[in-house]
Amino acid sequence: MYKVNEISAKRLLESDDPEELKGLLKLADAVREETVRQQVCIHGIIEFSNHCQSLCAYCGIRGPNKTLQRYQMSPEEIRDTALTAVKVSGYKMLVLQSGEDPWYDTDRLIWIIRKIKSDQAAKCLVFLSIGNRDYETYETLYRAGARGVLFRFETSDPDLYKKLHPDCNLEERLEHLRYMKEIGYLTASGPLIGLPGQTIDSLVQDIFFMRDLGLAMASMGPFIPAPNTPLAGEKPGDIKTVIKMIALTRLIYPHVRIPITTALEKLGGMAVRRTALTGGANAFMLNLTPAQYRENYDIYPGKNLVKTHIHSLETVEELTKLISSCGRRVCKGWGTDFTLTKEDFNGSCNTGLTSSREMRQ
Ligand code: 5AD
Repeated sequence: MYKVNEISAKRLLESDDPEELKGLLKLADAVREETVRQQVCIHGIIEFSNHCQSLCAYCGIRGPNKTLQRYQMSPEEIRDTALTAVKVSGYKMLVLQSGEDPWYDTDRLIWIIRKIKSDQAAKCLVFLSIGNRDYETYETLYRAGARGVLFRFETSDPDLYKKLHPDCNLEERLEHLRYMKEIGYLTASGPLIGLPGQTIDSLVQDIFFMRDLGLAMASMGPFIPAPNTPLAGEKPGDIKTVIKMIALTRLIYPHVRIPITTALEKLGGMAVRRTALTGGANAFMLNLTPAQYRENYDIYPGKNLVKTHIHSLETVEELTKLISSCGRRVCKGWGTDFTLTKEDFNGSCNTGLTSSREMRQ
């Protein structure tokens, strides 16, 4: 298999030769075909609360942003949205995402997870994206039935990380990722691309970081400046760089799942879906947040106006057409590279703790 080292990755990220870009995407596509094959997973994300106590400089829902209308979905609404997504639309994996919102304490989160997982007609994998919580909490939520976490490290550059997150540091963030993995979670993480002050060298490091963390899913997207944040006046990340990062990640960490994120679609339009899908990516993340809340989950402007992200079978159909036209097919099971047991999907809340760990060893 083609080997990319740090020097060639850097050179490719810096190159603006269109032929070279074409070659990189072609190679990434070939490696994708050889490793994770043709299946493309369509995942769903439910953004259940935009309350946030964090201070991330880039994020539109950061605590100090007083201009935003805040919302919290009730546990029942979250359960119903999730169950509809699985039973009606056929989603197999859902991300439950919120700002850092302590109203959803461990008991409330357990209730939500158990209600979803105990419905025998709704076999699905639950990922959490709820920010910094302690080890015990994540362990308890794993036992309740959650099996994955989406927890970006944002940048592997510790100084830049500190500048952007006055309330946290990179080591602490990584410590969380390590213990989540130790508990048994599938981990999804990655960088924001195009942050002010980010260097090409640090982007290269981000790719090797994703590999060394042993992520199940490499989730990355461009930085998009959000109003009423300290970075509101900065320029957005470059689409081509994101496309190259996806392709290079496929070459450096061949078996990982790589979703096309909503931020990339927002900046690159729908055409970018095909480019990324034929350049290393193999999954989608569709927004299932109920319409009345969606416009307020504004981590960056217009995020939830990405047109096709409506909770409907039509959207999945549209995506299925695109996927077929690229010679690929929608994954009907729980994916090709997630090493999980049937119990992880079957709903019984307390099984799978040891089995999924064993499966990955
Ligand atoms: N632009 C792009 N992505 C953002 N995120 C937060 N704010 C922005 C922004 N302005 C991403 C972060 C975070 C995830 C939930 O959303 O990577 O981890």
